[in-house]
Amino acid sequence: MRIGILTGGGDCPGLNAAIRAVVKRGSSEHGCSIVGFRNGWEGVIAGDAIPLTRDDVSGILVHGGTMLGTARCHPHKVDGGMEAVKDTFDNEKLDGFICIGGDGTLKAAGKVSQKLGVPVIGIPKTIDNDVVGTDAAIGFDTAVSIATEAIDRLHSTAESHNRVMVVEVMGRHSGWIAVTAGVAGGADIILAPEDPFDIDKIAKKIRHRHRYKDFSIVAVAEGAVPKEGSRWNAEDTLDAKGNPIAGSIGSAVTRAIEEATGFPTRLTVLGYVQRGGVPTAADRLLGTRMGIAAIDGIVSGETGKYTALQGEHVVLEPFETMMGKTKWVPEELFAAANGL
Ligand code: F6P
Repeated sequence: MRIGILTGGGDCPGLNAAIRAVVKRGSSEHGCSIVGFRNGWEGVIAGDAIPLTRDDVSGILVHGGTMLGTARCHPHKVDGGMEAVKDTFDNEKLDGFICIGGDGTLKAAGKVSQKLGVPVIGIPKTIDNDVVGTDAAIGFDTAVSIATEAIDRLHSTAESHNRVMVVEVMGRHSGWIAVTAGVAGGADIILAPEDPFDIDKIAKKIRHRHRYKDFSIVAVAEGAVPKEGSRWNAEDTLDAKGNPIAGSIGSAVTRAIEEATGFPTRLTVLGYVQRGGVPTAADRLLGTRMGIAAIDGIVSGETGKYTALQGEHVVLEPFETMMGKTKWVPEELFAAANGL
């Protein structure tokens, strides 16, 4: 069989582990030819294909990013995009696609599978970890490790200067990084989209804490929002597409805390550092396991599904499970976040 592989959406550490597993398992176990496409669905539309052999993926396990490049492109939103995907599928004599991506890219994969009748298996990757149906997405563990180490480091400078340190982490629509790294790093306050905040209550909590401690750590997801009707006067923190503007909620919260408490307050925006560098062992393992499950699945005739970590097992979930949905941080994790 000839299987195409692509990586779409935001990059993250662990993508190369998945590509490597697909190529090695596909060639050694199933005698498949694997064809890589550059820059996600954009490369499929353009027919920008590169054959991938075991030599091409040798040594990439520990490399961050994606050897194929990526782009935010969805064929069903591009004029003639779906037709071009079908043309490439026919011209390259493919038997199916393995598509590694976040919610947007996987949704596009579901449309390609449903509307073109082309076999497609997805692999969930996003540091936001907001794909429904899988306990974890590739990249999440590495982002949490990076953010936790940053929070650890901020403790010493906050304590030395008796300051409130605000750290803004990524998380467009969910607070998985903020809550997980916030709990792991011992942040005193954690703000996430799932739990709109009241800045006056935040200030009160910080004032109370500073009766016995002279510093605080506040972890803020870039997608965090103030509670409806609560006092808030920051300009809009979203861009024209409705996505958070990096640093905007962080600087607004920093300013509001300093004004409300009088305590010196400083901001650190982690941004793209959370998506860079060497993948953790957990992301290398998850990428490898999902890559194996994807190629085994498509070779055995599975389609319209994505690999999902559920407990100890990697299974195949129908795209319908995740399409149009966001996996929110559960209540009990928030209790650990703000209840201590
Ligand atoms: O989707 C993952 C993510 O890293 C979000 O956390 C972040 O808001 C977004 O990508 C940034 O998108 P881009 O890389 O296109 O600027």
